[in-house]
Amino acid sequence: MGIGRATAIAAGREGAAVAVCDVADAAAEKVAQEIRGSGGKARAYHLDVANEGDVRGAFGRIRTELGPIYGLVNNAGIAGANKPTHQLEEAEWDRVMGVNVKGVFLCTKHAVPDMLRRHAGAIVNLSSIYGLVSAPDVPPYHASKGAVRLMTKTDALFYAKEGIRVNSVHPGFIDTPMVQNYATSLGDRSAVYEQLAALHPMGRVGTAEEIANGIVFLLSDDASFMTGSELVIDGGYTCR
Ligand SMILES: NC(=O)c1ccc[n+]([C@@H]2O[C@H](COP(=O)([O-])OP(=O)(O)OC[C@H]3O[C@@H](n4cnc5c(N)ncnc54)[C@H](O)[C@@H]3O)[C@@H](O)[C@H]2O)c1
Repeated sequence: MGIGRATAIAAGREGAAVAVCDVADAAAEKVAQEIRGSGGKARAYHLDVANEGDVRGAFGRIRTELGPIYGLVNNAGIAGANKPTHQLEEAEWDRVMGVNVKGVFLCTKHAVPDMLRRHAGAIVNLSSIYGLVSAPDVPPYHASKGAVRLMTKTDALFYAKEGIRVNSVHPGFIDTPMVQNYATSLGDRSAVYEQLAALHPMGRVGTAEEIANGIVFLLSDDASFMTGSELVIDGGYTCR
């Protein structure tokens, strides 16, 4: 859904063979069909990024069916519980860390061997403006996106001489199901969208396609001298 969907479609348009991986099987299959319908190559795979067995199994099938993995977008993410730190349950903290942080670790772990063999690869990790600055809400989410920012730099250093580039993307508020659900949970959705728009100097939230363009750029050879960098796509949110 959201940014992942737009990225898969944009990558398919550029000629990539796209493995659309998600826990939401019907949504993933729909995206794969859309890419194939436009003449591209894509297949959907069931995968919970927080489960190593799932990641190992799905990546094995991807290798057999689509070929070696040399572009990886660690996009799966959840917002998690929205409460102050002292009211959070341990399980709520662990759930967000499981998907947003362990998921990046597991998918990177199981994609890198293909990249090492070919001495080529690009990994793009979805952090957030909330991996750069914070706000008084969703504490585990902010912690997770800060972790992803630095995991990106560590892996960029590990693999810089191996031909593997690792970069992070930091979107502002983007109109996706994640933000739509957040706005609905607060009551008047259009009023919340107006407030969110006002946080961005450009006066609006972004589109999933605007993030996908940046991700596909980082995956491509056009970004050949970029590793460990932070691509901020936020309508100016973090300028202040
Ligand atoms: N939308 C924004 O404003 C925004 C801003 C900054 C960063 N981000 C980040 O961008 C990424 C995508 O966000 P989005 O807004 O498109 O979210 P979304 O909720 O619209 O889509 C997230 C996708 O991840 C999938 N997913 C969730 N848990 C999963 C799991 N355990 N295993 C596999 N797939 C799983 C969902 O099924 C869904 O398809 C996230 O990492 C998010 O934190 C989003």
